[in-house]
Amino acid sequence: MATRNIAVIVGSLRKESFTRKVAQSMIELAPASLHLEIVEIRDLPLYNQDDETAHPPAAFTAFRERIAQADAILFCTPEYNRSVSGALKNAIDVGSRPYGKAAYQGKPCAVVSVSPGALGGFGANHHLRQMLPFLDMPCMPAPEAYVGGVADKYDGPRLIDDGTRDFFQTFIDAFAAWVERHAK
Ligand code: FNR
Repeated sequence: MATRNIAVIVGSLRKESFTRKVAQSMIELAPASLHLEIVEIRDLPLYNQDDETAHPPAAFTAFRERIAQADAILFCTPEYNRSVSGALKNAIDVGSRPYGKAAYQGKPCAVVSVSPGALGGFGANHHLRQMLPFLDMPCMPAPEAYVGGVADKYDGPRLIDDGTRDFFQTFIDAFAAWVERHAK
């Protein structure tokens, strides 16, 4: 089975981000059929349609090329005001253009939402899912991943909750099967 390259997009820019820790756990638990790498979004300028010229910002081009090279996308999102962060929305907007040539086009994906709160970023998770049909991205329907109470699940960078680790394993194994079914 070919190794599939997965671009992991982390919606938090915070140094000690729990969302990034969860993404890192997914990377560590991924089966051999997946190679996951975080694609950084912090240096993307705010999307401005006026930049859609023959020479868009270099950061846009580099990001679009990186996403285009991936076989699939794993979105890891914090919840900001019951939605995704502005940084994540910006990365989705940047990768969605030029119209008809979206780097995300057709790529299978999955969504993980993360919060110290009890609801596990349910609102962010579903706002993100709402965007995906417009990008023609087949999104893994289940298992759903709402990682709540995340502050208690890590000791520094270390995942210390066995039940959560088991769930992450189930999730990333299911994602590997989803990618195999839908990747071009
Ligand atoms: C939050 N937080 C938050 N949490 C939540 O469960 N639902 C929410 O709607 C919000 N809204 C929100 C808005 C803004 C602007 C901030 C800064 C924070 C709290 C948030 O879950 C918490 O700060 C997380 O630690 C952010 O994720 P990272 O940075 O740890 O990955």
